[in-house]
Amino acid sequence: MKTFSTVRDIEPSADSLPFFTQRRTQKHLYFHYKLEKDDIIYGLGENMGNINKRGKTYVSYNTDNPRHRENTPSLYSAHNFLIVDGHDHFGVFFDTPSKITFDIDNTTDDEMFVRTANDNLDIYIITASDSNSIAREFLSLIGRPFMPPLWAFGFGQSRWGYQNEADLLAVMEGHKLNKLPLDWLCMDIDYMDHFKDFTVNKLRFPLLSRFVEKTREKGIHLVPIIDAGIKIEKGYDVYDEGIENDYFCHNKDGGIFKAEVWPGMTHFPDFFKPEVRKWFGDKYESLIKLGFEGFWNDMNEPSIFSSEYSRYQGRLDVIKSYLNPHHKEDKAEEAAHFDYHNFKNSVEGREVVHHLVHNLYGGYMTMASSQGIERHYDKRFLLFSRASCIGAHRYGGIWTGDNESRWDHLRTEFHQLPGLNMCGFLFSGADTGGFGGNCTRELLLRWLALSVFTPLMRNHSARHTRKQECYRFGHTKAFRNVLGLRYRLLPYIYSEFMKAALSGDMYIKPLAFVFSDEKGRNCEDQLMVGESIMIAPIMEKRQTQRKVYLPEQMTMVTYRNQQFSTEIMEKGEHTIIIPEDEVVFFIRHDHCIIIGKPAMNTSEVDLDDVELLGDGKEYRQYLDDGYTKNASMDNTRLCSRTTA
Ligand code: GLC
Repeated sequence: MKTFSTVRDIEPSADSLPFFTQRRTQKHLYFHYKLEKDDIIYGLGENMGNINKRGKTYVSYNTDNPRHRENTPSLYSAHNFLIVDGHDHFGVFFDTPSKITFDIDNTTDDEMFVRTANDNLDIYIITASDSNSIAREFLSLIGRPFMPPLWAFGFGQSRWGYQNEADLLAVMEGHKLNKLPLDWLCMDIDYMDHFKDFTVNKLRFPLLSRFVEKTREKGIHLVPIIDAGIKIEKGYDVYDEGIENDYFCHNKDGGIFKAEVWPGMTHFPDFFKPEVRKWFGDKYESLIKLGFEGFWNDMNEPSIFSSEYSRYQGRLDVIKSYLNPHHKEDKAEEAAHFDYHNFKNSVEGREVVHHLVHNLYGGYMTMASSQGIERHYDKRFLLFSRASCIGAHRYGGIWTGDNESRWDHLRTEFHQLPGLNMCGFLFSGADTGGFGGNCTRELLLRWLALSVFTPLMRNHSARHTRKQECYRFGHTKAFRNVLGLRYRLLPYIYSEFMKAALSGDMYIKPLAFVFSDEKGRNCEDQLMVGESIMIAPIMEKRQTQRKVYLPEQMTMVTYRNQQFSTEIMEKGEHTIIIPEDEVVFFIRHDHCIIIGKPAMNTSEVDLDDVELLGDGKEYRQYLDDGYTKNASMDNTRLCSRTTA
């Protein structure tokens, strides 16, 4: 069942919305749902918390918070879909562009309160007998997710601090010398001229198109960053055109809104206007002409360090805090939240205070970029963004924003993954190893052992932190093993991703979506990856063994010294040992996965040349050329023991 109701049409006391009771005050709308003790709540995308979202309060209000902790209410994205699994079984999507609060069994035991900023809200309720069907129904409602090319599923290396060609060449060399696979390298803001979008620092990259081409010849794609804010500087074409055509956001009381971000004072394009999206999207043509086939969009909550209204040097505090762990102040968030009330967006010809549509800004930037790239490039491309809302999943992937080299942030990603998939963001992943702070060898290895299974697999770190490339930590054999595994699993990862995207399914799921027994329902440290793999990684410091629950007989696969070994394990609880230099995962009973030959780059991956692993008889493989725009479920074939 799908219920669509526009709250505007509902009387405050009316009982027309299933499952919830409602109350309207002058300022807010409240929805209340009575929870049973063993009801489980799944979803809410990128938010903090466990897989079961009970016991916390979440606020969807896209926020740049690199130092998030257990109780942080808002992160970079707004993903307002959740599933109640218990006495009642339904999914609910609160489609609203502004702040919304989910107090789930937190302030009051066994109660869920949802509060919206106003009545600009549509609610969708989906009922079905199981969570997986509810998620599928929701995914079909919101539309097919973004599908990048095959190379984007390869390993990406990134760091804010690569300054010039030499730095990037050194990373490529580091990977090559150490026999570590690599597919793409990010170019952070330093490639630009004074952090101005769509410009190039000619001293650092004197012949960028040649450099891009030479790099491509080595099989590596370069992926430049684009930020939301446009530097205020007369003579800079993007700024001049924006002023001339009135493309930038206005102050609430006239004039153009100015805010400080990386380039200094900037204006923000008003991505709510279709003509601005067209203009901004077409700007990517210049990058495509230089040879780029992948891009990342950043700072698009939008992140604001200070403005004429808020004069905090908030973001600088955050940067200082990377250097000084005792520095506790974090004013950036406050400054930005204050400013969201100070400028406007033009929505369908109406000027509205940005706060009222805040959560859509990053999504519209992604839409602008994606549609622009589509117009100028005829293959699938890589695009991922920091801020997002449900709907933006059709235009690009996301990364989960600035995190830190902390074990709890590794666990945070693990818990975010099923929620992200439920909300359509199949192509997602975190900064592997952590962005802020100094990563250790152990943490990076364990984090990579999770990222092996996430479609977006990128090692990214902040400047001033310990260098985090896989070859910086000595004894690279273990890193070769884990990156090597990614490439051997690529045929499976790509195939499962594409099948899920094309058929409206999740790629990563909670265990409970497949195994609904009590233990499966409450499992917080195991996940399903595609149809056949279950993962149970190590996510604690100095741990080399852990308990794993097998809801059925499974094949345990160990990848050690670049070799697979398997062991059939009975249903039930087991203690497994996973040394730092090994990766362990499980294949469902009566299922197979496909594995390819070792490769250093996706150009060496032959999707046609695969072997079966597992105790099943066959595997349905999705395969294509890796970049065609006409991806369809017709591109599948059955691999069986005799044909594979
Ligand atoms: C933001 C991004 C981060 C990037 C940095 C510099 O903090 O989230 O990934 O490296 O800006 O551009």
